[in-house]
Amino acid sequence: MSSKKAKMIVDKSFRIAPVDKRVYGSFIEHLGRAVYNGIYQPGHPSADGEGFRKDVLELVKELQVPIIRYPGGNFVSNFFWEDSVGPKDQRKKRLDLAWRTLETNEFGLGEFSSWTKKAGSDIMMAVNLGTRGIADALNLLEYCNLDTDTYYSNLRKSHGVKEPYNIKTWCLGNEMDGPWQMGHKTAYEYGRLAAETAKAMKEMDSSLEFVSCGSSNVDMATFPEWEAVSLEQDYDYVDYISLHQYYGNYDNDTEDFLAKTQDLERFIHTVTATCDYIKAKKRSKKTLNLSFDEWNVWFHSKASDSEEMANRPWQTAPHLLEDIYDFEDALLVGLILITFLKHADRLKIACLAQLVNVIAPIMTDNEGGAFRQSIYYPFLHASRYGRGIALTPVISSTCHDTSRHGEVTDIDAAAVYNEEKDEVTIFAVNRCAGQDIPFEADLNSFEGYRVIEYLAMENDDMKAVNSLTGEKVTPYPKKEYQMEDGIFTTVMKSCSWNVIRLGK
Ligand code: AHR
Repeated sequence: MSSKKAKMIVDKSFRIAPVDKRVYGSFIEHLGRAVYNGIYQPGHPSADGEGFRKDVLELVKELQVPIIRYPGGNFVSNFFWEDSVGPKDQRKKRLDLAWRTLETNEFGLGEFSSWTKKAGSDIMMAVNLGTRGIADALNLLEYCNLDTDTYYSNLRKSHGVKEPYNIKTWCLGNEMDGPWQMGHKTAYEYGRLAAETAKAMKEMDSSLEFVSCGSSNVDMATFPEWEAVSLEQDYDYVDYISLHQYYGNYDNDTEDFLAKTQDLERFIHTVTATCDYIKAKKRSKKTLNLSFDEWNVWFHSKASDSEEMANRPWQTAPHLLEDIYDFEDALLVGLILITFLKHADRLKIACLAQLVNVIAPIMTDNEGGAFRQSIYYPFLHASRYGRGIALTPVISSTCHDTSRHGEVTDIDAAAVYNEEKDEVTIFAVNRCAGQDIPFEADLNSFEGYRVIEYLAMENDDMKAVNSLTGEKVTPYPKKEYQMEDGIFTTVMKSCSWNVIRLGK
C-alpha cells in the first residue's frame, strides 16, 4: 500500500495578507480575434446595439474580472490612440507591425470603456513608450481622465463622453526589454523614460498608479539586471513592476509540466528581492509591489503561428495564438493561482493573458457560439472563492521526482479566509501522476464550520479538451469526504484540481 499523504493546517491567525482582487485581472489586446470577432462582432446573432457579443459578455461576467489590461501587449508599442476615437467612419486604418495585422480602429478606447462597464471591470491602460513618448502619454491621459476646458478633454466630450474615464492604473509601455518590441530600449533608457513619463503624468493626476516594465520572461539574458537598472531610475515614481511568463508542456511530460510553478516561485522571489535591493539602495520608505500582468500556458499554437506570421498577407482579425487548452493545462493554471495566493503580500495585480480567443479561457466561433476552455474553471473558482485573507498554507506532503525540477510535493495548496462571508476555501492540486493522495486539513480554528461545497476536476485523459460541441473538462460536486472534529479528510485523485469551501 502507498504511504503517500498530505496534511494541511488552515488557521485563521496565520495570515499572509488580504488578497487584492486585481490578481483576478485579465488582458485584451488588439491581437488576432481577441477584439474583432471576439468581444466585438456587429452582425453576429448575439451582438448587442454596440456590436458586443452578449454570449461572450455573459462568460466574462461569470469570471468576475476586476481589471482588464488594454490595448496591448506588443500592439501598444506602435499604437496611435487618437486613431481609435471619434466618429467611426473617420478613423484611420493602420498597419499593426507587432502582429502583421490590419487595424481598422473600428473598436477603440471609447468602445473598450463601454464594454468594460458592461463586463463590470476596470481598465488598466498601457501607454506607447515604444514609438512614442511623454507628450502622447500626457495627451491620452488628458483625454481619459480630465474634465478641464482644454483640447483633449474637450475632444473626449465632443465624442459624446462627458464624464472622464478615470483610469487609475497605467502600464508604462510593454516588454521594453524585448528585441522584438517596436522601440526596444536598454534598461537605462527605459528607466529614464518611464520615470519622466510617470512624473509628468502624476502632475496631471496625482492619484494614478504606475507599472514599470520588468523582464518579458525569466529566460531573458538581461534578467534580473533589467529590473535593477531600470528601477534605479524610476523607483520613486512607480508603484509596481511587471512580470510576464508563459508555460508549455514542450516535452509532453505531465509531472514535470506541473512542477513548473517551482520556476514561478523563484521568479517572484528574485523580482521581489531586486525591488527590495533598490529600496535599500535608495534608502526609500516605499515598498514596490508586483504586477504579474501576463501569465498563462502558451505553446499549443506557437509553431503554426510563427510559420503563418512570416507569410501571411495583411488582414484583420486573423486566427492567432488560438491555443486549445487541455486538462493538464487547467491543472497548471490552478497551480499558478495557488502560487499567486501564497505571495498575496507583494503580488497585487495579475492578468490572465488573455481573455477571449487569444490564449484565452473563452473561445468564439465567428459563425456560432462561445465556449469555456478547460482553464476557465480554475480561474473562475479562484476569482469567485479566493477573495479575503490569504492564509499561510502549512502543508506537509509526500513528494515525487520530476525530470527537470527535482523533487516536488505531491499536493500543492493555498487557503483564503473570507471574514465577511464567514467562509474559508482551500484550493489544492494533486500533481502526482498515477497516485491518488489521502488529504487531511486541520480546520480547528474555524469552529462550527462545515463543508459548503467540494468542487473537483478529475480526468483520466490529460489531453481532454472542451469545444463548441461539448465540454469534457468541467468541475463536479465531489461527495467523497468526511468532516469530523474540525478535520476534513478526502482522497484527492491523481492529477486533480480541488476546491473545498467551508463555512457556517
Ligand atoms: O500576450 C501575447 C503577447 O505576449 C503580448 O503581446 C506580449 O506582451 C507578450 O510577449
